[in-house]
Amino acid sequence: MHSISRRSFLKAAAAAGTGLVAAGCIPRRKKQEPTAEAPLKLGVLLPYSRVYAVLGQSITKGMELYFDSIGWVVGGRPIEWLTEDTELDPQVGLRKARKFIEHDRVDLLTGLVSTGVAYAVRDLVHATETVLLIANAGANKLTRLEKSPYIFRTSFSNWQPNHPMGAWLYHQVAQNVFVSAPDNEAGHEMIDAFKETFQAAGGLVLGEIYPPLGTSDYGQYLAEIGKSGAAASYSFFSGSDAVRFVKQFGGYGLSKHMLLAGTGFLLEEDVLPAQGAAAEGGYSGLHWALTLDNPENRRFTEEYKQMYGKEADVFAVQGYDTARVIAEALKLTGGETQNKKRLIDAISAVRFNSPRGPFEFDPETHNVVQNIYIRQVASVNGALHNQVLDMVEKVRDPGV
Ligand code: PHB
Repeated sequence: MHSISRRSFLKAAAAAGTGLVAAGCIPRRKKQEPTAEAPLKLGVLLPYSRVYAVLGQSITKGMELYFDSIGWVVGGRPIEWLTEDTELDPQVGLRKARKFIEHDRVDLLTGLVSTGVAYAVRDLVHATETVLLIANAGANKLTRLEKSPYIFRTSFSNWQPNHPMGAWLYHQVAQNVFVSAPDNEAGHEMIDAFKETFQAAGGLVLGEIYPPLGTSDYGQYLAEIGKSGAAASYSFFSGSDAVRFVKQFGGYGLSKHMLLAGTGFLLEEDVLPAQGAAAEGGYSGLHWALTLDNPENRRFTEEYKQMYGKEADVFAVQGYDTARVIAEALKLTGGETQNKKRLIDAISAVRFNSPRGPFEFDPETHNVVQNIYIRQVASVNGALHNQVLDMVEKVRDPGV
């Protein structure tokens, strides 16, 4: 188990037992009343190893930042925070979800970065009536054919950031592209959503290629992309795959005759510093940008930087918002989690202004409804960040 569980639990216990506020980098905004309530057990399932390890860390940091701001007490109950590494493996994820549900008897389950792990735990969560808040994994079917009243998603469906990008890219940037993504469910769902509107607008897909997740040398794939003569390359890669793909895209000289574009994760704050110049000018669509100018984002990005000494990223926003949903829902139920209908109604009712803009759940699917921002990487105050070029408001997964 991750060492965070002990530290956070001690903080919660301290806040709950004494009414005092533990010392931290971020000043508390709210003093907690003493409480003798049973802890709220939160099972956090995230990858802390392999390609998406940094994503797991960012989600964790975002959650910690929010829970810190409310003294680690929700609905009068101190948070007991348990974490497990899914190792990005569906079978490991399923085993650890079962442990959380059957052994630890968690009140709520959260986390999940990869679509494959999310699909693997779906039936267990549904059958055991465990409320799950997905903090990343975009698995489309969990908002469609395989949706469950017990599953909410605070992040995105794989369709959401890609569908608006197809038509936008065709009209604003390039009329023919080469598409690429890891050869897994997430990769195909993301690219299919992009192609839908790109091709409907009249765009030509000159080729597509799906390397394995965790590819270290993209040379053979980039050779093919380069040979296609496409005006732009559109990809979904994330974590260390995104670092290598974009750096090698620059290294093989593709940047000289082809535009770089993709799902926002390809060019997000977690990878930009390592990608460097090869990322500059890249276009992408996502539900957040570091430079979004709203009061919630200004406060969040400043506090995050102060606490962790680095820029926030979209995964941290998702963790932060997930923690907020839990806190607001538990406020509505007075800390009660056993009555599942009441808990589900409370979560469904949560809406607020997030650093990403307005946040609300679609009552039909329990997936977040949110703006999608079209961004371009540019030098901002001497560092590479995404600037917002355009916005598609209140994007809702179709649910079918
Ligand atoms: C996914 O597998 O659903 C996934 C992984 C990484 C991302 C986004 C989605 O950045």
